[in-house]
Amino acid sequence: MNENWIAPSILSANFAKLGEEVDNVLKAGADVVHFDVMDNHFVPNLTIGPLVCEALRKHGVTAPIDVHLMIEPVDRIIPDFAKAGASYITFHPEASIHVDRTLQLIHDCGCKAGLVFNPSTPLSYLDYVMDKIDMILLMSVNPGFGGQSFIPSALPKLREVRKRIDDSGLNIRLEIDGGVKVDNIREIKAAGADTFVAGSAIFSQPDYKAVIDAMRAEIAKAE
Ligand code: DX5
Ligand code: ZN
Repeated sequence: MNENWIAPSILSANFAKLGEEVDNVLKAGADVVHFDVMDNHFVPNLTIGPLVCEALRKHGVTAPIDVHLMIEPVDRIIPDFAKAGASYITFHPEASIHVDRTLQLIHDCGCKAGLVFNPSTPLSYLDYVMDKIDMILLMSVNPGFGGQSFIPSALPKLREVRKRIDDSGLNIRLEIDGGVKVDNIREIKAAGADTFVAGSAIFSQPDYKAVIDAMRAEIAKAE
């Protein structure tokens, strides 16, 4: 597995042929599948649930599936996603009354756990749970839709989280989600991200490999 993970968001894939789309993007060099779950309540859009995750596993997808829950509440559905084959499950702390309990629940179900921060969500949610987190996901758009523009305040926020992770000495991935493109991924890497969600930037292009290769080349320039 690469050190820097490219995580295509299947939100921008063609859902009418999702299995094929996921196969193609993994063949093109993607590392993980980013799986956006929306409930028309926590965010103003509605997408996919555990059945689709399970269908991808049955289809033969073996890559990690990174489930980004944009739903409220979160606990009830976590065991379902674990059974459906999720690898990572991340959630927004505002959507869980008992953040520590939800993190434990994800681990008890055998998955890796992460917290997601909206652009305006303070990092103080990390204060007492760093040791229970495998991934920190910073939103660089307001969640709900693909194809939005990268919000620049995510860059200083990334630097702050990178410092927290490095100071902790813990093995925590730092993921960025929203508006990631070939032309900004270098500065995003330089700010400290190691996991890059990209939906429209990849699936809007005919040649997924060309985009992913170009992203990796830009990431390499930041190292
Ligand atoms: C937004 C989702 C993202 C989205 C990213 O709510 O969490 O994963 O699909 O799409 P792009 O890369 O097009 O901004
Ligand atoms: Zn996402």
